[in-house]
Amino acid sequence: MLLTGTGRLAPAGVSPWALQVRDGRIAWVGAASDAPDDDQRVELGSALVTPGLVDSHTHPVFAGDRSDEAAARLEGAPYTDGGILRTVAATRAADGATLEALVEGRLRAALAAGTTTVECKSGYGLSLDEELRHLRIIRRVAERMPLRVVATFLGAHAVPAGASLDEYAAHVAEDMIPAVAAEGLAEFVDVFSDSGFFDLPATERIAHAAKEAGLGLRLHAEQLARTGATELGARLRAASVDHLEQLDAGGVGVLAASDTVATLLSAPAIVLRDRLPPARALLDAGATVALASDANAGTYSGFGSMPLVIGLGATLLDMSIGEALTAATAGGAAALRRVDLGTLRVGARADLVAWDAEHEGAFALRLGAVRPLRTWISGEEIGL
Ligand code: NIG
Ligand code: FE
Repeated sequence: MLLTGTGRLAPAGVSPWALQVRDGRIAWVGAASDAPDDDQRVELGSALVTPGLVDSHTHPVFAGDRSDEAAARLEGAPYTDGGILRTVAATRAADGATLEALVEGRLRAALAAGTTTVECKSGYGLSLDEELRHLRIIRRVAERMPLRVVATFLGAHAVPAGASLDEYAAHVAEDMIPAVAAEGLAEFVDVFSDSGFFDLPATERIAHAAKEAGLGLRLHAEQLARTGATELGARLRAASVDHLEQLDAGGVGVLAASDTVATLLSAPAIVLRDRLPPARALLDAGATVALASDANAGTYSGFGSMPLVIGLGATLLDMSIGEALTAATAGGAAALRRVDLGTLRVGARADLVAWDAEHEGAFALRLGAVRPLRTWISGEEIGL
């Protein structure tokens, strides 16, 4: 198949352009005048075409509604673990079919908004059986959707009622992670490593268990306080440290010198009226930056928001629109350790979106209102 257009192919930059897909991968990309012959041609006119978006941080497995909590926070109530525990109670009470339908609806919204790869965390179960149930739901939904799903075990999201931090961290490390790995239910382990949640010793203990089980590591870091989770993540070669609202210049330098991706989540920072993460400093220092939605039950619930996330990167985080788009594609892919995604390079997966826009500046100008016209995953067109 040969896709051609007279508009912008971002970030490749040639126009008129052509892109050949073979066996689900990009086989050739360049100027239309040099394009190889192909029987099957798809003409995309002036539409902006980009790699499919990679949302490398979401929490889609939950039931219940916490908009009342968001409203109370905006009038001064603090953010505590009580919110997560409330979602845990509602999610435990939801039957499998209900929960599966909720997850599927959220992932369909993401796909309809141009996300072709989504990372999905568990973490509203907080017991062995519940966490396994949630990860199995992620797997089942992934099996019947074209979207690429990367599952992450976030048993260490909060300490459940009745347990101490030490007891629960031990349970996560010694019982839950081996069970998750044995069933092949997740590629990564995540820890909410922050003040009032999991401290650095507990985080490290869980990270070692992840490594032992052959799973990758990613951390929620420096959202509520500057704890040093960034340095720990870099030392343990985490794929990504996420949030970073409280990161300082020292932490920026550590990430720039590491291969740990800095994943920035502007939407929950705004909803919590928090500081914004230091995107400009990270980019200037040479760190790899990803932008992701963090769609979850309690601090930002916008599934299907990656076009908005790109726009917020450019308007609020002081990134250029090109940097924001790269962070939401190649950056997210780097955060998931998938170099074959989020890029137009020959050999990469042919995950592509043609947008109802002519220039990537539309992500800023039409903040949150840019939509896909057509989407391909591994070269197969997806009905939206
Ligand atoms: O990424 N920070 C930790 N976890 C989620 C919020 C979870 C919740 O409040 O339900 C986040 O913002
Ligand atoms: Fe999160």
